[in-house]
Amino acid sequence: MRKMLIAGNWKMHMTAGETEQFFREFMASLRQPPFQEALGRSRLEVALFPPFTSLYVAAFALEEAPRGFSLGAQTVHWETHGALTGEISPAMVEESGCRYCLVGHSERRHLFGETDEMTNLKVRALLATSLRPVLCVGETLAERERGETFTVVRRQLLKGLESVPAHRLGQDVVVAYEPVWAIGTGKTASDDDAQEVCHFLRSVVGDQLGAEGAESLRVLYGGSVKAENSAGLMARPDIDGALVGGASLKSDSFLAILKESLSALA
Ligand code: PGA
Repeated sequence: MRKMLIAGNWKMHMTAGETEQFFREFMASLRQPPFQEALGRSRLEVALFPPFTSLYVAAFALEEAPRGFSLGAQTVHWETHGALTGEISPAMVEESGCRYCLVGHSERRHLFGETDEMTNLKVRALLATSLRPVLCVGETLAERERGETFTVVRRQLLKGLESVPAHRLGQDVVVAYEPVWAIGTGKTASDDDAQEVCHFLRSVVGDQLGAEGAESLRVLYGGSVKAENSAGLMARPDIDGALVGGASLKSDSFLAILKESLSALA
């Protein structure tokens, strides 16, 4: 059975001081039922992706973290070191206490020109360390309207995972389907649409890399996830969790999503 992963992407929000305050509240709640039990029984995994400058503060706050909670970074460079002003290497991210790293988030692709080739270099560089890539794929509104959703996400997925051995998929790679038109807009994909694309992504992995990798691969949905829509999305068979932006910035709203998502497991 695939363990549910609810991830919070903070983007360029939260100073180190704000992070400290968030974790104080959040961790106290995570040690209460129903979260502690779900984390302890390995049904749920929770991860937060603060900005780089907040990672050490977060890692420090997490020394007493319950099992099943991890940190992630929002991006990384694929080189191990070099004259690359402003960039951060996988080893730096790893040392700051992260287990995961986002790759190819639509904001990286569309605002910073990240290509499929770059996402693949990043995925492979992360897999050379102990970090697990969360590869984000998703179509724009124009692409959806032209009927290109499946072509676009298939290309992003296969290019991003090029040369990744099948046996690394289930354990070490997470895929997130995030339709660009649903990110930060308040518009969520319907449960049916999200399920359809997540199922498609799993079947593409199955065709190319084998049924075993596809069966254990976790596929998340992201794009305006909130407490009101999370239970319906999480109840779908091919949706194994959520990548949450705006609603992960407040402890209360993120906990409400966790609670609703857990109800889908019951
Ligand atoms: P949102 O962001 O939940 O604010 O739509 C999701 C994301 O960008 O990962």
